[in-house]
Amino acid sequence: MKAFISSLMILSALLVASNTQAASIYAGQATAAAVCSQCHGVRKQSQGSVFPNLAGKDASYLKTALKQYRDKTRLSEVMNNIAASLSDKDISNVASYYARLKP
Ligand code: HEC
Repeated sequence: MKAFISSLMILSALLVASNTQAASIYAGQATAAAVCSQCHGVRKQSQGSVFPNLAGKDASYLKTALKQYRDKTRLSEVMNNIAASLSDKDISNVASYYARLKP
């Protein structure tokens, strides 16, 4: 597990270094670990959880959902508050991070 995590981190660093224009999954991972994972977990949620699983979902789907929560065209008391504090860059980073996780 430890080796897996460090290879994941090296991979993230390489991806960031090779394309600085692209969304930073490293930054996305930091946001996810600090904020999102408290509810969404990192991988699969238990069945019947009220918190939808995000891993492996399409990045553009996740981005759209977060922007809708932010501008309150999609309503969820919890997610409206959380998305309000995210910049476009945060949204794109965190969406790329979750999209790359294997569900
Ligand atoms: C306090 C708990 C909590 C935290 C923290 C949280 N979420 Fe959520 N999230 C929820 C709940 C509850 C829902 C379901 C809301 C609904 O029914 O629309 C949700 C829904 C979502 C959805 C929609 C998923 C789908 O399948 O349509 C996305 C995307 C999402 N959250 C992303 C995030 C991200 C990114 C973060 C971190 C920045 C985050 N959430 C942090 C509770 C949380």
